[in-house]
Amino acid sequence: MIKLTSKAPDEFSGDLLVYFLEKEDAKISAETDGLINRALHRAREHGDFTGAKDDTFLFYPGLTSEDDIGGAKAVLFIGLGEQDDDPAVRKEQLRLAAGLAAKTGGNMKARELLAVLPKEYMLAPNEIAECVTEGLLLGNYRFTLYKTKEDIPEKEKVVGNFILSDGGLSATAVRRGMNRGKILAEAVYACRDMSNQPANKWTPSEFAEFAKKISKQYGLKCKVIEKPAMVKLGMGGILGVNQGSAQPPKLVILEYRTKKDNPTVMLVGKGLTFDSGGISLKPAAGMEDMKYDMCGGAAVITAMQAIAMDKPENVNVIGLVPATENLSGSAAIKPGDIIVHYGGKTSEVVNTDAEGRLILADALAYGVETYSPEAIVDLATLTGAVIVGLGHHRTGLMANNDELAERLLTAGNQVGEPEWRLPLGPEYRKQMDSKVADIKNTGTKGGGAITAACYLQEFVGDTPWAHLDIAGTAWDFTEKSYVPKGPSGTGTRTLVELVREWKPLNRTEKDS
Ligand code: BES
Ligand code: MN
Ligand code: ZN
Repeated sequence: MIKLTSKAPDEFSGDLLVYFLEKEDAKISAETDGLINRALHRAREHGDFTGAKDDTFLFYPGLTSEDDIGGAKAVLFIGLGEQDDDPAVRKEQLRLAAGLAAKTGGNMKARELLAVLPKEYMLAPNEIAECVTEGLLLGNYRFTLYKTKEDIPEKEKVVGNFILSDGGLSATAVRRGMNRGKILAEAVYACRDMSNQPANKWTPSEFAEFAKKISKQYGLKCKVIEKPAMVKLGMGGILGVNQGSAQPPKLVILEYRTKKDNPTVMLVGKGLTFDSGGISLKPAAGMEDMKYDMCGGAAVITAMQAIAMDKPENVNVIGLVPATENLSGSAAIKPGDIIVHYGGKTSEVVNTDAEGRLILADALAYGVETYSPEAIVDLATLTGAVIVGLGHHRTGLMANNDELAERLLTAGNQVGEPEWRLPLGPEYRKQMDSKVADIKNTGTKGGGAITAACYLQEFVGDTPWAHLDIAGTAWDFTEKSYVPKGPSGTGTRTLVELVREWKPLNRTEKDS
């Protein structure tokens, strides 16, 4: 899908040759074919290409001159605008520009697209290659599994193959960056694919099968806790939510192990393969979107895949995905029911549609006890309330530890998945007080994203923990060239980035 070439761009004879140019770039490089430099000069002179962010200029060199550049059917200039002071912004700019290149190439049905890396973009060569690779591949994603006709635009309008030209940067560094970009893109493809799958094709069992497959492929340890074991372990949350479903529940666990002494990071993702609301039934309009209620689980499981391939050395990582459907029926859990979670805490189920927290509670409590992690991050499409607060542009972040929260904000920022931190505190927790159990599963009015997080907090004890509510960003995310409509695959790259940079937490610090 993508490879590196050592040939000069002039020798490329495929469909589309892409150059990324900054606002001030008047010339591509001295070595570049005169024709392209002349074209750039002309385009600038006429004001047709300024190099501003998202500015593009496409032309057919062979049509305008005798001195053809050797065969590229078309040449595309893409503007990078002015270099931002913040490296995270520059990285995102490269992803966006590369995504735009993939889109343009796709519309042309380019079989081969050669992208020449920009040389002086104030990032390490491997970072430049990584971001461009991510942008190209992620922008070329389509989900056409169930389109049976061949001649449909979504199927045709893709780039066949991408080629990178190092643009004068160190080829070894570029190769390293490209390979990493590939690992991430592959994981995000898998995340988007499973999220796109409808609930009848992606059940809790599919989650388990996928985990087993990648554990064999990439050398992870995989364990699946089945229903009978859940009964023995007392996982009343997962079992309760699963009561109305004909599909057996699964608690899928993947382990990435380095050295025993290394700290362990635990990732937990909500794997609700369909959320009808249960007896507290959701309205029909838009209910089909609730096939996406497993995006947190998808992010965790595909992050584990990328981590296994990327092999960070100083950290152990555990991924847990509680997976079930939430359906109604005569066996289903009812409002007012009381469940006993793993570890013994009791919960009054006031609303069966607040099911994500019920299944996560068991996974969190079980994970804390079994793996004694140094830190926990959970991801879940948990509340509509987070969409009311933050829209579709930022993931809601809530945490009991400032350092972990800061690390997540940084990681999200570095990969173009921004978050916004919301508070926690006893005044919110109080909204969840139950008259008959330890806690109830919905709060009184207001602050729904926060009260949901307070519920989860009950099950992590003192362990540093952060919760990402991705209900607004897992699909319908901010429109971007490299993020398609539908599931965005958010979370995967943030988690990999967090883990990659992991060092032990400063244990003296604690808040809320
Ligand atoms: N999966 C939903 C949250 C959700 C809603 C995600 C809309 C994406 C879009 C979750 O299980 C849910 O139903 N939450 C309820 C909680 C409420 C009953 C306290 C909600 O947000 O309405
Ligand atoms: Mn729900
Ligand atoms: Zn849900």
